[in-house]
Amino acid sequence: MESLSGKTAVVTGAASGMGLAFAQRFARAGMKVVLADVEAPKLDEAVATVTATGAEAIGVVTDVTDGAAIDRLRDAAIDAFGRVHVLCNNAGVAGSGPSGGNFVNEAEWRWVLEVNLWGVIHGHRAFLPHLVEHGDGHIVNTASMAGHFPGHSAYSASKWAVVAITEGLFHDPRLKAAGVGVSCLCPGWVNTAIMDSHRNRPEWAAPSHGVEATPMEEMMAAFVRDQIRSGMEPAAVADLVHDAILANRLWVFTDMQMVQALEPRFNAVLAAENPPERSFDS
Ligand SMILES: NC(=O)c1ccc[n+]([C@@H]2O[C@H](COP(=O)([O-])OP(=O)(O)OC[C@H]3O[C@@H](n4cnc5c(N)ncnc54)[C@H](O)[C@@H]3O)[C@@H](O)[C@H]2O)c1
Repeated sequence: MESLSGKTAVVTGAASGMGLAFAQRFARAGMKVVLADVEAPKLDEAVATVTATGAEAIGVVTDVTDGAAIDRLRDAAIDAFGRVHVLCNNAGVAGSGPSGGNFVNEAEWRWVLEVNLWGVIHGHRAFLPHLVEHGDGHIVNTASMAGHFPGHSAYSASKWAVVAITEGLFHDPRLKAAGVGVSCLCPGWVNTAIMDSHRNRPEWAAPSHGVEATPMEEMMAAFVRDQIRSGMEPAAVADLVHDAILANRLWVFTDMQMVQALEPRFNAVLAAENPPERSFDS
């Protein structure tokens, strides 16, 4: 997109963390913003921070696991502002719940894939025809560096899938013909509330009773909490996203050291060799 001013952005997971920072950054760029989140009271506060700057914004309570709710979000955005130009499929959960030493905690996998992957799929289905029809649009999917490093977890699976479908979308001839851009945000550690994702865990995804974290899982969760606390500020990520939309850039990385750390794996893949011992987990 060549300019953002006067246009409309829809951001999911906008009540806190990176989504809120995107909404605020877009408002500063002169955009109208539709903030969507499953956490209603926090969403109201988030919308107030945007409208307090003089920008036009509305909040739409939306659970991204519900395709019909995403349709209603699109319709509410179009009703309010006429057209949607930028969509950020950003809502996500960490799902660092306990496995009880089992290989798969099914409730955990279902919940994380529903939010992190199906949230994005619903966003594509509901919004892409509209973006392609008017042709002045850009879609930003929030993946993660966890979408590039292997990991036997629901989070890794969800983020690898988001990386794959976003890069696939980048090549889609219909988007290219219409001039609709695509970005894949792959943050490293960012200082947000992601490790408290269980605050939004629905009843249907309640963890199995009596399942406890293994000592390794407890250690890993403490490590990740520490990294996130000292991570990048969401506003800095929002600047990168804003610039990537204007530059029509696919990859938005926040930590180039993490990107460099991919090299041994790629080399092993190219040589069809077993992967090297891991020095990084995300
Ligand atoms: N923080 C990090 O270090 C980091 C790193 C890589 C990727 N990410 C990704 O960034 C995105 C944003 O997360 P964040 O770090 O800002 O965390 P956050 O918890 O501050 O924000 C996530 C938002 O998503 C919302 N949400 C959760 N489930 C939802 C649902 N079903 N429907 C609608 N909204 C829902 C939450 O209410 C919250 O406002 C996520 O996709 C996350 O996986 C975060």
